[in-house]
Amino acid sequence: MDKLAIVGGRRLAGEITVSGAKNAALPILCASLLTADPVDLDNVPNLQDVRTTLKLLGQMGVRTEYADGRVHLDASNVDNLVAPYELVKTMRASILVLGPLVARFGEAKVSLPGGCAIGARPVDQHIKGLQAMGAEINIEHGFIEARAKRLKGARIITDMITVTGTENLLMAAVLADGETVIENAAREPEVGDLAALLVQMGAKIEGIGTDRLVIQGVERLSGAHHKVIPDRIEAGTFLCAVAAAGGDVVLRRVRPQILDAVIDKLREAGVSIEEGDDWMRVHMEARPRAVNVRTSEYPAFPTDMQAQFMALNAIADGTSQVVETIFENRFMHVQELNRLGANVTIDGNTALVNGVGKLSGAKVMATDLRASASLVIAGLVAEGETLIDRIYHLDRGYDRMEAKLTAVGADVRRIKGSAA
Ligand code: EPU
Repeated sequence: MDKLAIVGGRRLAGEITVSGAKNAALPILCASLLTADPVDLDNVPNLQDVRTTLKLLGQMGVRTEYADGRVHLDASNVDNLVAPYELVKTMRASILVLGPLVARFGEAKVSLPGGCAIGARPVDQHIKGLQAMGAEINIEHGFIEARAKRLKGARIITDMITVTGTENLLMAAVLADGETVIENAAREPEVGDLAALLVQMGAKIEGIGTDRLVIQGVERLSGAHHKVIPDRIEAGTFLCAVAAAGGDVVLRRVRPQILDAVIDKLREAGVSIEEGDDWMRVHMEARPRAVNVRTSEYPAFPTDMQAQFMALNAIADGTSQVVETIFENRFMHVQELNRLGANVTIDGNTALVNGVGKLSGAKVMATDLRASASLVIAGLVAEGETLIDRIYHLDRGYDRMEAKLTAVGADVRRIKGSAA
């Protein structure tokens, strides 16, 4: 297993180009199942979850080609409607093939994802929504088996706001017979990006970007050429890294408008951020101020930035509260940050962070994707060397993170496999 060795204390300066959004690319890749025509994508990030999705689609008979952020997909010869446990267990987002498969082929068999490091994460809303559209669903031997001659439009009100749930039901509804209304839909920009692709494929969707999606089903969809939106969480992670380590960095190919909540909190912490249409400049020379954070659905502060912001609060001047409202167990980074000298205590869904003057390098372990990113940020600040184990979590969702950080002056080294 690869590790990252980081020697902290370097100021960061230069430019970083942000990659395409993981959480937009994954549903968009799965949307290729909805048509027999080719789908071409640009700005697809080069990361493990994308490779896993391409493997999953490949096993189903989709022809996939990937090079330099471009993907060509051809789902004209799909002959296997199964998402096996071996792939689903490594990537929960595999559930995103369920909606498109039932919609186009009338059946699907997808392994149940099970729990994960950050919480139980059930998929009951995906299932309930498909049932409302007339799918017959059996859960047996760890698989969700869904069947429907043709899905029928329905009015669906999800019990909570769910990002991949909204995406799955949207992809099902575009080929259903009649009108579907999804109430309480997720408004995350990644849902909007998927909807933009679907519209290009010929889908009829109103209310994109709102919590009420109205879809008129069509008989068939055609191919499309789409560019994936920039990754707001990757961008936010680099903003926090510069805020914590100090420095002056320009981020290229970003969309500052979809990062408002994070930018506001960083400004409150004393960070200087300038923004243009597709760039941001982050500048920080002082110790950050502690800032309270509460995660919530878009457009509020994203849960996917909570761990990274906690690393910043850990070294900030003052005390802060970080409240996690989306996932019940997303504080796995806390004990590792504390190994680096942070002073964080947890009470239910709230972390109380007492900012400390310095962190000191140590061996730590990554437990999930964003927890890994938070340890990287802490490592950039800590005195001496921080060795982060299990960085396969980081590789799932960040495109060449260590190369991007090294380019702005960080001392980050990957230690391959058993050599560590
Ligand atoms: N939930 C249910 N039942 C469902 C669906 C969700 O109880 O059927 C609950 C979840 O357990 C959770 C809450 O609803 O407590 C919200 O979960 P959601 O379904 O929105 O999460 P997701 O779709 O599984 C996506 C992202 C996550 C991100 C969350 C929240 C993708 C591929 N994943 O997950 O990204 O944290 O939305 O914004 O889009 C990450 O990138 O590190 C990551 C975990």
